[in-house]
Amino acid sequence: MRTNDIAVAILSLVGLSAAFIDDTRNLKWSTLGGKKTRLIGHRGERAFVPEHTYASYWQAALEGADFIEPDLALTRDGQIVVSHNLWLGETTNIRDIPELQKYKRNITWPDSSGHVYELTNEYFIFDMTLEDIKKVRVMQSDVEYRPQIYNGLFGLLTFDEYLSTMRELTVKLGRPFGAIPELKMPKIYNMGRPYPRYFEDRAIITLSHYGLANITGNIDKSQHSDLILSPVAPLPAGSALGPAVWQCFDQDTSAYLANNTDVPVACTRRCHASLLHTQGLDAVAKYAKIVAPWKDFFVTGAEASLKAKGVTWNATEIAAMGGFIAPDQLVKEIHSRGMEVCPWTFYNSKESLSYLCQEKGIKPASRSGFCPKDKTEEFFYFFEQGADYMFVEDIVEANILRTFFANKLENKQNQRLDS
Ligand SMILES: *[C@@H]1O[C@H](CO)[C@@H](O)[C@H](O)[C@H]1NC(C)=O
Ligand SMILES: *[C@@H]1O[C@H](CO)[C@@H](O)[C@H](O)[C@H]1NC(C)=O
Ligand SMILES: *[C@@H]1O[C@H](CO)[C@@H](O)[C@H](O)[C@H]1NC(C)=O
Ligand SMILES: *[C@@H]1O[C@H](CO)[C@@H](O)[C@H](O)[C@H]1NC(C)=O
Repeated sequence: MRTNDIAVAILSLVGLSAAFIDDTRNLKWSTLGGKKTRLIGHRGERAFVPEHTYASYWQAALEGADFIEPDLALTRDGQIVVSHNLWLGETTNIRDIPELQKYKRNITWPDSSGHVYELTNEYFIFDMTLEDIKKVRVMQSDVEYRPQIYNGLFGLLTFDEYLSTMRELTVKLGRPFGAIPELKMPKIYNMGRPYPRYFEDRAIITLSHYGLANITGNIDKSQHSDLILSPVAPLPAGSALGPAVWQCFDQDTSAYLANNTDVPVACTRRCHASLLHTQGLDAVAKYAKIVAPWKDFFVTGAEASLKAKGVTWNATEIAAMGGFIAPDQLVKEIHSRGMEVCPWTFYNSKESLSYLCQEKGIKPASRSGFCPKDKTEEFFYFFEQGADYMFVEDIVEANILRTFFANKLENKQNQRLDS
């Protein structure tokens, strides 16, 4: 954020607290439904608190997140835990726990875009039981401006515990928080299970247990009687949880979740050509209600992004499917198919904005050539484009910028009324 913005922020505490409670101004945003952009706490509030912990979810809620994200993983004994990585050596104190050293091993596997992961001396969630996992404590990544004072205080949660926390937040803070679980690497977590969609079914059963999903397909619950689910007491009158949204990088799993629940699916994929041309979006629209591409697709553009990642594509084929969509047309193209847009990830202003036009000087593929210089320009661009949701870190900053943008909208809309 620019210094003058910070000064205005201090003077705008009234506006800020309005944003935290509820911005009830009847403003017309460019989102699909015309409402304000919803802010999703990325792994809770990762900028300040170790990710995916009880404290991280509370912090996200207190900073005014609309949705809070958990990433789902499956233990050897079939319990769903919340963790972004499949391995625990980087984000926890597992290396210091003698009885867990037996799980240390090396592994290689190709991901969906053909990149081969090689992990050495790591500890994998699918090798361990829930009892093992409950012994570790989460650590903040070693980034100088992230507070390290909460290291070792909080453990990893189960999906059930995440949902209980969401319930607790709703009751104690008096408003709902959206749940947006991401199933990580279903192909890997489903290896060696009793049947192929085991992970998906367990996630669906858990979400429906909390009343956040209705099961619309044939799921055999009798195979999952060992799944640990807490009793769910009724909520106080007038309050409700949710809503919920699924996300997954795996397109088959996304279609499966759409086929078997009434919960909208966000199609989340970094590099796949299916998101980037008109025919691809038509195909995604068959199952997804939300499209969640990497944010640089909206700024520098798809082609530069794919090139930088070393992803090859067939130019003839892409041209036949309508060509790559220009970055500043992508939101329009997605909205025109009745889907919402959810770009990721918007970091703390102390971090790099992570755009190729900035880091590598690549010319954006839009006519305007726009490339954000700071977090304010970045957020205003995405608000103007009509982003329906944004995955954010440092939700305080994001909320301040959303309030500033709402003030700007209000001025514009008042001027229009006056003239
Ligand atoms: C993993 O590979 C490294 C060499 O790349 C080796 O030093 C290490 O012993 C291996 N670890 C295990 C647990 O096999
Ligand atoms: C589940 O179905 C009921 C009854 O049709 C409906 O009221 C409720 O909104 C649905 N819940 C979800 C989370 O879709
Ligand atoms: C989802 O349903 C569609 C329509 O019935 C079907 O063609 C598709 O194969 C299903 N996909 C998955 C992964 O279940
Ligand atoms: C590119 O796609 C076209 C149409 O599918 C195909 O005929 C052609 O062989 C492909 N070229 C390469 C280099 O793969």
